[in-house]
Amino acid sequence: MKKSRLLIMLLIAAMVFLLPLTGCSKQSESEEPADAAAETEAEAETEEGSVIDYMVLVNQKNPLPDGWEEALETTTITNSVGDEVYVESKAYEAYCRLKEAVEKDLEGYEKGEVRLELDSAYRSVAAQQKIVDDFTEKYGEDYVKKYVAVPGYSEHHTGLALDLYFTIDGKDVYENEDLVQYPDIWDAIHARLPEFGFILRFPEDGEAITGYAYEPWHIRYLDSPEIAKEITDKGITLEEYLGQ
Ligand code: DAL
Ligand code: ZN
Repeated sequence: MKKSRLLIMLLIAAMVFLLPLTGCSKQSESEEPADAAAETEAEAETEEGSVIDYMVLVNQKNPLPDGWEEALETTTITNSVGDEVYVESKAYEAYCRLKEAVEKDLEGYEKGEVRLELDSAYRSVAAQQKIVDDFTEKYGEDYVKKYVAVPGYSEHHTGLALDLYFTIDGKDVYENEDLVQYPDIWDAIHARLPEFGFILRFPEDGEAITGYAYEPWHIRYLDSPEIAKEITDKGITLEEYLGQ
């Protein structure tokens, strides 16, 4: 075997070996969410160059715009509890930078080593319906009204809304009722959001405008650190920024 070919093979082997150690490396990529309708090659070609609107408003009054899923490009990852998560690809890159910064900020955290994880990002209408059903059974209808969007009206359909959780010393802190026990960790996460183009989408005291109770875990990618910073500094919601 030629020396150069051997070198390339060794390089590839090293990359494959090192990939899982980076923590935020892509496990697989797809051009379309896994459970959306299958796309033909011809359709993919006509969509080339289509760009999604990172400032889109999807809330209780505004459903997911038509054609969104066809234009959406997602990255698929597997989280620490073994679930597959689909994230709009640019939002995922920003999330990786956010994760790196937050984990560095939390080095030396008194309760152990903190690692940021993704619980959920893109959700189909069917996946949202399953959450409505599961949460109604687990927490009841009142809880669902405060925390879960009606299928078709969830920002998660855009792939730009990310639900975070974390591990502490390798132990998953995953359930909503456990996550709210760590305001200090959320403060550290929220402080870093704007510089990577994210906002806290359902802030405390925002219920009258957003329609949802405080969700420290739900962040929204806007693809603009400037706008994210303006919204955060002014203490307003996305609805208010967009004049709704
Ligand atoms: N938790 C948010 C509101 C959703 O279900 O989209
Ligand atoms: Zn969410």
